[in-house]
Order: sequence, then structure tokens, then C-alpha cells
Amino acid sequence: MSLKEQFGVTDEQIRKAATLLRGGQLVAFPTETVYGLGANALDANAVQRIFKAKGRPHTSPLIVHVSSIEMARELASDWPERAEILAEKFWPGPLTLVVRKKVSIPTIVTAGLPTVGLRMPAHPVALALLREAGVPVAAPSANRFTQLSPTTAEHVRQGLGDRITYVLDGGPCHVGIESTVLSLAEEPPVILRPGGVSRSEIEQLIGPVAVSAAATEGQRPHASPGLHPQHYSPKTPLVLANAGAVPERGNGVYLQIRHEPNHDAIIVKMPSDPREYATRLYATLHDLDARGYDWIAVETPGDTAEWEGVLDRLRRASAR
Ligand code: TXA
Ligand code: MG
Repeated sequence: MSLKEQFGVTDEQIRKAATLLRGGQLVAFPTETVYGLGANALDANAVQRIFKAKGRPHTSPLIVHVSSIEMARELASDWPERAEILAEKFWPGPLTLVVRKKVSIPTIVTAGLPTVGLRMPAHPVALALLREAGVPVAAPSANRFTQLSPTTAEHVRQGLGDRITYVLDGGPCHVGIESTVLSLAEEPPVILRPGGVSRSEIEQLIGPVAVSAAATEGQRPHASPGLHPQHYSPKTPLVLANAGAVPERGNGVYLQIRHEPNHDAIIVKMPSDPREYATRLYATLHDLDARGYDWIAVETPGDTAEWEGVLDRLRRASAR
């Protein structure tokens, strides 16, 4: 099936987006996780536009998207065997590998760090764009700093509006939460952000990995501002509700998995499968955030490995 039939994206749109990227402009595009806000990663001026459009501090490094493992190798000054093993298995897909960078990557991309986060996304529209552009593309999530990540083109337009040149609309993102960020520049490797690929899937291939304390406790680490506790927040206060314990006052909505709410609340049923839950999480929060509730209470999911990505985003969204 063509991109047009599957995602409503024409070859002409891909060419236009690729031309804009090569010309130093910003293009928002779908990935399987969330929409990205892309710029040519080798063009420091173009990358500067990302920080401006997002209102993002320059201390926050960007993920560089590639169209092949070869392209990743070319950007790394050291491509360890573990990187090859993981990329072979999980790329294209929701895993970002942090490795030592080459000098060809401008320092603005990596916030001055000697490492770079590399990822080959699985969305066919993203891959077509990367291939057509022929350059690595730096792209954070296409939202203003600290706000909810976008999983549709409409979310991107609502959040960034005319701050960006072009939005490629490829429909909703199916993973729904951001990629797992794994640093291979440390020994043992460390998960800086849980996400689409789980710790156990990684450990099956390369043995034990550490999980950054910030990734489990919602504290702010030095090198990974994506782990800032207030990331991914809706404007409406979000509270975690254990076993249906919702706030007593005000008009609120409750995202239910199993337990009934113990006070009045509008109920929104969420999937009990963690992957399906992740797919719907941001879209549900975007929608409810626009409705003027006093609070959004979210039933705390089980503290098990399959839920770690979702639980991480919920903890951050509830930290104020
Ligand atoms: O799924 C995703 O990863 C999406 C899509 C668009 O690919 N991108 C995304 O980008 O979530 P962003 O900028 O919102 O989050 C990037 C995360 C941050 O937590 C950042 O700190 C971490 O990756 N990161 C990037 N480069 C790093 C590096 N060199 N060292 C440590 N952490 C890094
Ligand atoms: Mg983000």
C-alpha cells in the first residue's frame, strides 16, 4: 500500500517537507511514538529554530533521527557492539541509543554533551521523509516545552501554530508515548527514560542495564532534561488516584482501569492493556484538558514492568 492510501500523505508532500528541511526550515512529522519537530541536524541555525519554537532551554539535548543503521554509525565516534545488536533488533522502532558523537554534529544538538541520542523511527512517513531529505533530522516532540506531547497533527497545530513552517499529517501515532532512551556511553548501560521498548526486552539481548534514579522517582537529573518532573503536563491539575481515590471537591474526570471512583466524577474507561493504554494516553489528556475540569484523576496502574513507560509519564504529569 502507498503512503497516500495508508496515511493520506502524498509523494509530493514528502518532497516538499524534505526540501524545507534541507533549506533549514522546521517540519513537524509523525513518528510511531509522538509527532516530532524536525530540523536538519547538521545545520546549527536550523536546530536553533527548534529551541525557539518550543521555548526549550538549550541545556536539553535533542534526539537525532536516522533512516538507517549505516547513517547512525556515521554520526557516532564509537558504535559499540551492543548498539549494533540493539539497533538490529529494535530499529526501526521506539528505542533511542545514546553513544559518543562525531564532531560533525553541532554542539547545540547535544546541549554540549559528548554524546548523541540516535533513533531510527518506524513510521513509514517518517522513514520516507528521512530518506528523501538525505540528512539526519534532530527532532524533539512537537510541543511547547513542558506541555503534553502531540499524537496527532491537530495537537501540533494547537500547540505550536504558526511557529512552524509545515506539518506532515500522517494520522494518529500508534505507540503513543516517547521512545525509551538508553545510554550506551556508561557501564552498565542505563535507561534514562522508559518508553516504547521495555527494560526486559533490552536485557534479554545485552544483559543487565541500570535505570536512572530520576527515571523511576521523577527527580531531575543533570544530563537528561526530558526527565524534568513537570514534563508532559496537561494544564488541568492531574492527580494519581490509587484504587479509585479521587479528590472530594470540584468537578473532575476519572480515568478508570478497574476501580470505581469513591466520589463523584465523570468516568472515562481506559484500556487495561498497557500498550493500548499508552496509545490513547496523550490523546485522552489533550481532549480532557480542553474541557475545563477542576482536575483529572488517573487510576494508578500496576507498578509492573509493562507499565513503566506509562507510569513514568503519569508521575511527571502529576508533579507540580
Ligand atoms: O519518541 C521520541 O523519542 C520522540 C520522537 C519525536 O522521536 N522524541 C522525543 O524527543 O521525545 P524529546 O526531545 O522530547 O526527548 C528527548 C529525550 C530527553 O529526555 C533528552 O534528555 C534525551 O532524550 N537525550 C537526548 N540526547 C541525549 C544525550 N546525548 N544524553 C542523554 N540524554 C539525551
Ligand atoms: Mg518532549
